This record gives sequence, structure tokens and C-alpha cells, in this order.
Amino acid sequence: MSDEPFLRNLWYFGERSSALKAGRLRRVMLLGEPVMLGRGEDGAAFALRDICPHRGVPLTAGRIVGDGTVECPYHGWRFRTDGVCSHIPSLVGGETVDPAKIRVRSYPVREQNGLVWVYMAAPGKEAAAPATEPPNVGVPDARPRWMESQTFHCGIDHAVIGLMDPAHAPYVHAHWWWHVKPREKAKAYASLPNGFVMTRHAPTKQAYKLLGTDVSTEITFELPSTRFENIEGTILGKAAKVVGLTVCTPRDADTTEVTQFFYWPAWLGFIRPFFMVLGPVFLGDDRRIVELQREGLKFNPSLMLIQDADQPAIWYHRLKKAWAESTVSGTAFVNPVQARTLRWRS
Ligand code: FES
Ligand SMILES: [Fe+2]
Repeated sequence: MSDEPFLRNLWYFGERSSALKAGRLRRVMLLGEPVMLGRGEDGAAFALRDICPHRGVPLTAGRIVGDGTVECPYHGWRFRTDGVCSHIPSLVGGETVDPAKIRVRSYPVREQNGLVWVYMAAPGKEAAAPATEPPNVGVPDARPRWMESQTFHCGIDHAVIGLMDPAHAPYVHAHWWWHVKPREKAKAYASLPNGFVMTRHAPTKQAYKLLGTDVSTEITFELPSTRFENIEGTILGKAAKVVGLTVCTPRDADTTEVTQFFYWPAWLGFIRPFFMVLGPVFLGDDRRIVELQREGLKFNPSLMLIQDADQPAIWYHRLKKAWAESTVSGTAFVNPVQARTLRWRS
């Protein structure tokens, strides 16, 4: 694997659509790079590197001007949303410098399901069109009904593995009001284009009863760090679908933003208080344990991954390796995950 800690040629979650107002600029760190997210008066979101190519001032400190370009606050250079410089105020004519030949890096952006995604291309591949699509909730007119975001002081790998780890729940989430007696589980897993899925099954947790009778769920994971839980049930004779989406956004090598969204149809609004109360608690549990883990990782110990409970983590590492190799070699990604049933107690 290369030394690059982040996977490239993939979409990363940038911001909620509602947080990106027209005419406004926002700075986010993605994969160690300062990225400016903006939305023009025409409503279209865009992303540029948040460093002016003239003398390095963050462009987010500037503003969107009348012609829809971003104006740097230092010398007023203007950049179109595709990154090309459109105006250098100091030029009087007759100079050899051609603004159109100057550009700030632009990133492909897609907006769907109320979320803005940013495509982080591999070095040297910035000009190529994205070969993949960002994660899709798969529900018509989906918009997030609830979200919780927390900053984990750990690299992306431990954040991702902590979220897919099936054996931690009885310990990390051991609240007296939530505790369930660990029992043996057997779950079928299959591969997905860029990851794997715990196939549809009846969940054992009582909380799922909130979604009525015959509740079933499937949980997916796909690179770089997207987890979907697709829950289906029947409430008052009506089919209900609730989708949980968790994304881990690497801010830098040691900081990962973990964000959870839930989507449900408007008529299911009465389940919202449940998420408002429990969501921050559970995500906080996961955050605290990886921060505790950091105390041990400081000493660079060798770690273990055991069968079967750590198999999702093993798959994650294999998926990453295969993706990184395909990015470097330019060959097609081959998913290393084979379908199998995993058994553990939790
Ligand atoms: S630093 Fe941006 S215009 Fe000079
Ligand atoms: Fe957890």
C-alpha cells in the first residue's frame, strides 16, 4: 500500500445542503486539504481549493461577487467556480500574464439527498471525470430528518472499524437502560461493488419495534467510509422505510468527523425524539472508546483481528488495499470480499 493514508478517486461527504447558503463560502478540511465549499446565487454548489494560487490567502475569507466568481481578499483576483482565474485587477494591459492560464484546483461536487459530496481524485487524475457516483439513499425526495456529527480524535481506520465492529456493543454501549444480554449471532454477509452487506434479517434489538411488526434490516459498508442501514417495517398497516447513513470524513490523518443521518417519510416524524435522545449518546460512546484507544496506540503496539467478530475489519483493510492498488496501477478494482456467514456473541 502507498504511504497516502486516504483513499482517492472516491466521493467524500462535504456538507449538508441546508448549511450551504446561496452566496456563502465555507471552509472544510478534507483528507488534509483545505477545501472551500460555496453556493452561487444560481443555487449550484461548487468546491475549490481554499488557497489562493497568487499568495496563499484562504479564498473563503473573500466573497462571491456579482459575476458569480470568488474574489480573493488580498489582491482581488477572481476565480470562476471551475477554478479558472477570470480577473486580475492590477493588470493595466500589455502584460504577458494571462489570467485564463491561472487556476485554483476545483473539485467535482454532487448534491443529492440533502447532502453535498466532494470527489477527491488521485494525484495527477484531477482532470478526469469521476468514475463513480456518491452514495445514494435510494428513497425518492430523501432529505435528512435527523443528524448528529461528532469529531473523533483518531484516524479514519479506527473510526470506521469502531462503527462496523459487531462485538463492542455490550461493552461500549452498556447503558443500564439499553443493556441486552449478549447472545450468539449468525449473520450472512455478501459483497457489494465497493464493500459488503450484512444481508436482510430480523433485528433482535427491542428498539426496532418502534417501526412496527415484521421489521427487517440490512447494513452495508462501502468505501471509503459509508454505512447504510436500510430498515423496513409495517406501522399501522403501512410500509415504512427508514434509512440510516453514517459517513466518516477524514479531516486530516488524526481527525475524523463521524456524521449520522436518518431519513424517513414525513408521516413517521414521531420517531424523531428517539433519535434526538439516543443518537448523541451512542455516537459519543463510539467516540470516547476510540479516544481511549489512542492512549494505547501512542506506543505503536501490534494489534489483533480475530475470527469471526473482526472479519468486517479484515475486509475493510483488504478493500482499502485493493482500492489503493487499483488507483495507483490504473487497473480495475476487484472486490476481495467473499460471501460468508459470520458467527459471534454480542
Ligand atoms: S493572494 Fe489572492 S489575490 Fe493575491
Ligand atoms: Fe458503536
